[in-house]
Amino acid sequence: MLVTGGAGFIGSHLVDLLVGDGHEVAVLDNASPHAHATRPEAGLNPRARYHWADVRDPAAWDAAIEALGGIDAVSHQAAMVGLGVNFGDVLDYVTTNDAGTAAGLLALHRRDFRGRFVLASSMVVYGEGAYRCPDHGPVRPAPRAEADLVAGHFEPPCPHCGQPLVAEPVTEDTPPDPRNVYAATKLHQEHLSFTYAREHDSAAVALRYHNVYGPRMPRDTPYAGVASIFRSALEAGRDPRVFEDGRQLRDFIHVRDVARANRLALTAPLEGSIACNVATGVRHSIADMASELCRAFGRPAPAPVQPWRYRLGDVRHVFGSPDLARQTLGFRAEVSFEDGMAEFAHAPLRAAPPATA
Ligand code: UD1
Repeated sequence: MLVTGGAGFIGSHLVDLLVGDGHEVAVLDNASPHAHATRPEAGLNPRARYHWADVRDPAAWDAAIEALGGIDAVSHQAAMVGLGVNFGDVLDYVTTNDAGTAAGLLALHRRDFRGRFVLASSMVVYGEGAYRCPDHGPVRPAPRAEADLVAGHFEPPCPHCGQPLVAEPVTEDTPPDPRNVYAATKLHQEHLSFTYAREHDSAAVALRYHNVYGPRMPRDTPYAGVASIFRSALEAGRDPRVFEDGRQLRDFIHVRDVARANRLALTAPLEGSIACNVATGVRHSIADMASELCRAFGRPAPAPVQPWRYRLGDVRHVFGSPDLARQTLGFRAEVSFEDGMAEFAHAPLRAAPPATA
């Protein structure tokens, strides 16, 4: 099997599982400076073959595949992640994520690969999660207005009547609504993967990860998710800075569960291509997460930052329905929020890249 990004946070856990199952595993990873301070050593599996090269080069895919004498499945985890710091990152995101996927699919096409192609996608393709208005049913709220956020009105209103909405688990049939460059590249990667599978009579699986956390997560960087930012603050003796009112909801899923979902996606019998959420089905607020981590550090739960802090472009609530992944892949998350956060509080993280440390 080929795992791109196999030296990274999620990829390295997946490599461990696959090697443990007895698979021969090749890793294609460029030790991206966005994710690694130096060439990674912690978390490398001595029984996998590492190829330190760029996914944007089809010849790098060829070399990794040929070193194994062929492959039966690919897990494409390598990507530039995060929400994008500003639009100036657009070319890096598009070349790494879209062109990197295109290069891999081209290399696979040239060898008429018809095996499973699993893509690391993200819940960011949905934009805001799913909402229901008491009078108008399911609705898609518009991006929140800055004037509302300044005033501490964080809940997105019904676009038809302005009433407060009820947030619901987002299902895979929710129309995509990518609201930043990273999200746009994840959706395009999904489309490229499905196109490949259709034209080669094979199956692609896009795994829409919800908020992943756990050991080997990169430390606090401008591209890091909130769990890593909070954990890094606590380690430095500071309180986590909870934005908005802390009641925004997410589905935090442990990296070992995400690796298990990938393993199933690589091997489960499937009728055709699918995109599915990788989520626990249990929602938690950002304030819950902060207090769970604080508890592990023996500190009281922090209050939201005052005056209100918010990030324009953040979505308010997004948490996934886990049903499709359970029905199609047989995946069910096993690590509870409480156990996972208690472990994460003191688990080894990876060093931040020097440019952002
Ligand atoms: C995150 C990732 C996204 C990924 C997705 C699923 C980033 C920046 N975002 O999206 O790329 O696809 O998970 O895994 O990597 N917050 C605070 N204090 C902070 C930082 C953030 O309260 O110091 C709040 C934010 O305002 C937001 C929430 O935490 O409401 C989640 O933030 P974050 O993890 O950055 O972004 P997601 O939208 O969840």
